Amino acid sequence: MQIELETQPYSSIHADALITYIFDKQEKFEGALGDIDSAMHGRLLSLAAGGELTGKMLELVLLHFPEGLTAQRLLLVGAGKPEKFSPGDLRKIAGTALRYLKPRGVKKIIFLARETERGPGAAQAVVEGLVTADFESDKYRTEKKNREIQSAWLVGFDSGLGADLQAAIDHGRVIAESQNFARDLIIEPSNRLTPRVLAAKAEAMANEVGLGVEILDERKIAELKMGALLGVAQGSVEPPRVIVLRYEPQHLRPGAPVLGLVGKAVTFDTGGISIKPANNMEKMKYDMGGGGTMLGVMRALAFLKPSVSVIAVIPSTENMPGGRAQKPGDVQIAMSGKTIEVINTDAEGRLILADGVSYARKLGCTHLIDAATLTGAIEVALANVHVGAFGTPREYLDRFLESTRAVGEKMWPMPMDEEYQEMIKSDIADIRNTGSGKGGGASTGAWFIKEFAEDTPWIHLDIASTCWVDEGRPWLAKGPTGVAIRSIVDFALKM
Ligand code: BES
Ligand code: ZN
Ligand code: ZN
Repeated sequence: MQIELETQPYSSIHADALITYIFDKQEKFEGALGDIDSAMHGRLLSLAAGGELTGKMLELVLLHFPEGLTAQRLLLVGAGKPEKFSPGDLRKIAGTALRYLKPRGVKKIIFLARETERGPGAAQAVVEGLVTADFESDKYRTEKKNREIQSAWLVGFDSGLGADLQAAIDHGRVIAESQNFARDLIIEPSNRLTPRVLAAKAEAMANEVGLGVEILDERKIAELKMGALLGVAQGSVEPPRVIVLRYEPQHLRPGAPVLGLVGKAVTFDTGGISIKPANNMEKMKYDMGGGGTMLGVMRALAFLKPSVSVIAVIPSTENMPGGRAQKPGDVQIAMSGKTIEVINTDAEGRLILADGVSYARKLGCTHLIDAATLTGAIEVALANVHVGAFGTPREYLDRFLESTRAVGEKMWPMPMDEEYQEMIKSDIADIRNTGSGKGGGASTGAWFIKEFAEDTPWIHLDIASTCWVDEGRPWLAKGPTGVAIRSIVDFALKM
């Protein structure tokens, strides 16, 4: 999809559809919408009076051959109450419009800004909404649907800020395309995305965008004594990999912070010997979602060039119940030297993150963020609404939460009290990989990872219930969401 800033008047552009939005219960239309209404001899007002055009959030009203416009269609999207309106809503409006028009054979669209939202932030939100809504995977369908939005013109934005607007559009595009890059990986079935394939794809991306890359194979992993990762990997015939990507700014200050991004990439989680039930097991192809997220973040950072060094460490393996698989009760020695009693082989994410986090610190990371589809418990706590955000010290987490609010991603701070640490003490080793006692599964999982982050400022994002949605939303297809990428990118840019 080509996206262009256009200064021509909207009324003269030959497009298949012109999209704009209207607020709740407007008695009269102002600005461009007023002009459109007059050209249509007051049709919009009469639709509003008749109750067909209410402006309720994401209500869609499609009019064909609108008078006075060169566009073939006019699509009005409801924007809700003006006092509640945010750039996040603009993202949803643009995305909803695209997903509505695409199956109708529309190829060329105009997005008309409203007078209240004409700046760079609005343009960026519209671009992000359009590009993420355009994600679709019919890669494995033999009959393609063959529908494509070819071009989108952004009209009515404040051209006095021309340069800023173009930068905002480019920025939005990079972020949204990086989300789609991650979503493409996350949707991939596990027979086509083994740890080796994921590593090869990460390497290709890194070379394309100019990131440093190193792939650790099973020999190197053994040399580094990553016993926790190897314990999980030993149940599979597919060898594990650790993907290391590096971004370095042009001007490196000595003593400057280094941000470490650690992502769980279990390309398939059967549960291992503590095997999962068959129902929904196919979903466990997305258990590499944390790793996919970090690859998306690194891709975006390669273009957006923050002034901080960033290293991504992505441990990747299958979790299989093969003949050599680890068994409940086994003790593994992690790279840090800590010993782990494996109570449940299905709590494998924290095992591979343990070594991932240790390795990131060994590489010199001074600040850490991990992302993982870690626990079913986070869904119990937060449904698919919020990402569970854990972290220490609290000020570090709070700083991150500011970024989540700035980009409109819902994340909720979760408790890290010491009582949860008590619950992962083992009878025979340093720690156990599941909490004893009842409940608190997301917090005991987080504490397990913190045992390896130690005093390094660290954030853990449990994306198990948010990185994939079973039901599509008007602005987003069902399947992988690309959640957390926008927040982490924003945080790195502000660091
Ligand atoms: N990959 C799962 C968590 C998960 C569940 C992700 C549902 C996405 C959707 C993880 O490895 C796991 O199995 N966790 C266990 C931990 C338990 C054994 C302590 C869980 O949450 O049940
Ligand atoms: Zn598991
Ligand atoms: Zn898992």
